[in-house]
Amino acid sequence: MFITFEGVEGSGKTTQIARLAARLRAEGRQDVLTTREPGDGPLGQELRRLVLDPPMGVDVDPLAELLILLADRAQHVARTIRPHLDGNGSVLCDRYADSSLAYQGYGRGLDLAEIERLNAYATRGLTPDLTVLLDLDPAVGLARQRARTRMEKEALAFHQRVRDGFLDIAARAPSRFLILDAAQSADAVADALWPRVSFVLGAP
Ligand SMILES: Nc1ncnc2c1ncn2[C@@H]1O[C@H](COP(=O)(O)OP(=O)(O)OP(=O)(O)O)[C@@H](O)[C@H]1O
Ligand SMILES: [Mg+2]
Repeated sequence: MFITFEGVEGSGKTTQIARLAARLRAEGRQDVLTTREPGDGPLGQELRRLVLDPPMGVDVDPLAELLILLADRAQHVARTIRPHLDGNGSVLCDRYADSSLAYQGYGRGLDLAEIERLNAYATRGLTPDLTVLLDLDPAVGLARQRARTRMEKEALAFHQRVRDGFLDIAARAPSRFLILDAAQSADAVADALWPRVSFVLGAP
């Protein structure tokens, strides 16, 4: 089973993935892989650095940014996610194709249909069984964080478009999405998540 976590900066994706993986392993599931985008593996780490911490003075073009992220996704699916799923493992992934739609599409204004087409190509059509959207006011999410990457330094209006974009994407694929109120405590979010995730993971 393939589960992705999406949401604005500081919405709790990394926190919830770690908790969920710990809970699943405590229940005896050792086949759970946690991973993230961008930045899996040595190539992913280089690509992540190019996007989030580009060489000084470089103004990264939005389309170039998208294509670097898609290169990361293609490598991630082919070399990490797909092999693990083919071995009957489960994958929990921190950000995936919906983040490209939300950030580079809704956030930066690139064409949504083109991003969808490129996502399908980069992922070889691999779609999550479940996507957990941690919905949060971006002002709250940004206030939770200390360090700021290039993406997090974008204006609040950018992050508001990203949030609204995620909600729009979820509304267009309701059966794939579980939308949770990420302003709740981390415990409350984890409790709300568990029934749906255990159902999906338990399903044949
Ligand atoms: N439900 C919550 N309520 C309050 N604080 C939280 C909650 N969940 C996580 N946090 C805290 O908020 C900060 C951001 O959480 P986390 O790193 O999990 O978010 P993220 O979505 O992975 O962020 P990023 O997009 O930057 O990777 C952390 O300090 C974390 O401990
Ligand atoms: Mg995170």
